[in-house]
Amino acid sequence: MANINTPIPNLRLSDGNSIPMLGYGTGTAWYKSGDESKIDQACIDGVKASLSLGYYHQDGAEVYKTETELGTGLKGSGVAREKLFITTKVISNIADIPNALRTSLKKLGVDYVDLYLIHSPFFSDDKTVHQQKWKQMEQLKDEGLTKSIGVSNYLPAQLDWILETAKHRPVINQIEFHPYLQHAGQIDYHKKNGIATEAYAPLTPVTKAAGGPVDDVLAKCSKKYAVGPGEILLRWCIDQDIIPITTSGKEQRLSDYLRAMTFKLTPKEIQDINEAGAKKHFRGFWTHKYDEKDHR
Ligand SMILES: NC(=O)c1ccc[n+]([C@@H]2O[C@H](COP(=O)([O-])OP(=O)(O)OC[C@H]3O[C@@H](n4cnc5c(N)ncnc54)[C@H](OP(=O)(O)O)[C@@H]3O)[C@@H](O)[C@H]2O)c1
Repeated sequence: MANINTPIPNLRLSDGNSIPMLGYGTGTAWYKSGDESKIDQACIDGVKASLSLGYYHQDGAEVYKTETELGTGLKGSGVAREKLFITTKVISNIADIPNALRTSLKKLGVDYVDLYLIHSPFFSDDKTVHQQKWKQMEQLKDEGLTKSIGVSNYLPAQLDWILETAKHRPVINQIEFHPYLQHAGQIDYHKKNGIATEAYAPLTPVTKAAGGPVDDVLAKCSKKYAVGPGEILLRWCIDQDIIPITTSGKEQRLSDYLRAMTFKLTPKEIQDINEAGAKKHFRGFWTHKYDEKDHR
């Protein structure tokens, strides 16, 4: 296994906190559709393996039903709490956000999380409802139960609603982001408003949407930097100040991904990936909420 000693860099958020620029996810492949109380040992082992490689940024959500596994993996890892960056998200219990976070903390076995996100905006089309929900998120930050607060899957217009009345602005929007879904204009909107972008499904061009216009430029960069195309996709995010969240049950892959910390893409290479990616559109998540022609 590769022994990569280059640590994962941090990005400073607009509230002054810092986030490691590569996260390990406990959703998608680990998502539990059945009984939450049935513990998935493979997920615990995945979390532990990722922590032992230095993935201190862990991404969870109440809806994944794997917070207990994440908590068990964290506890068994021996990594100090201050070193960890733990995210969880609320959506199933959006009706009572304070209680949802307290329940999540119990499952995770911690006193606070580093980042708490509203998982999606689709629970309401009403601006006032979103503003009220955001107030509850702010209270949890004020109580110290979460260090930072943010959202996931929000469009700029929905972020505008929150920003209109926010005391603490959302510091992150976690969205599906890869060369085949670049959300024209949204990353600039985030930057202008002090909102960092987290990218889930960053490997889509080599997994679910494999075979497409970015293949050639990925192959060229892979050859130049002597890494796999997955590492190029992760680095493409990092070099744009975007935080990729990946996952794997394979320790070898997680180890290989750390090679993304050993080089930087040139601005021309980033542009080449952007331009090639723009030739194809692919969305893997929340497809029931968007028209196929909707590239936002
Ligand atoms: N906020 C949201 O709405 C939302 C939505 C989706 C995801 N997320 C978060 O983001 C995390 C990562 O999402 P993701 O899983 O879509 O990320 P991803 O990094 O794009 O994909 C990782 C998956 O791809 C597989 N993979 C990697 N290389 C492969 C290859 N060469 N061939 C075939 N399969 C390959 C991995 O399987 P192996 O185990 O075989 O390596 C793993 O299941 C989730 O766990 C979750 O925490 C959030």
